[in-house]
Amino acid sequence: MNIHNYEKIWLVLSMLLIIGFISTVVYGATAVGIEMVNDEGGTIDSTALDEDDRFSEPRVEKVGEDEYEAYVVARQFIFEPNPIEVPANSTVTFYVTSPDVLHGFEVVGTNANAMVVPGEITELTVEVNEPKEYGILCNEYCGGGHHTMEGKLIVVPEDEFELGDSNDE
Ligand code: CUA
Repeated sequence: MNIHNYEKIWLVLSMLLIIGFISTVVYGATAVGIEMVNDEGGTIDSTALDEDDRFSEPRVEKVGEDEYEAYVVARQFIFEPNPIEVPANSTVTFYVTSPDVLHGFEVVGTNANAMVVPGEITELTVEVNEPKEYGILCNEYCGGGHHTMEGKLIVVPEDEFELGDSNDE
């Protein structure tokens, strides 16, 4: 069989296009720091958050020099705790889960933006520097109050920071 040269060139070009498309999708899904839903944070029984040490009392904990962990529950139609307070110049790892339906967790103005799936723990880390207030939004339609579901992340000056009220209760 004799394939015309032009036809060969087109064949090769179209193969390259297909490879290009696939690479783009793979790159988008795995690189450039895009937060995808994953099970990195582990799984959890969404019907028994009350019995889980981390989520029965949503809170912020100090885990190291300038390192904090925030255990957050996203539920119809609030985030707990609210506000979330952390000190400036620290690294905060959020563990977020939901007892009811799919929610979103976006810290507006940062690259923290992820889905919160019942039964899974979403883990994301944010570095906070300057004292500042950030809005927290739910990006997934979760029911009638979805548009009212918002919270706050307050980055307070280091010398004014005290660990949350949950420790005094
Ligand atoms: Cu929660 Cu929308």
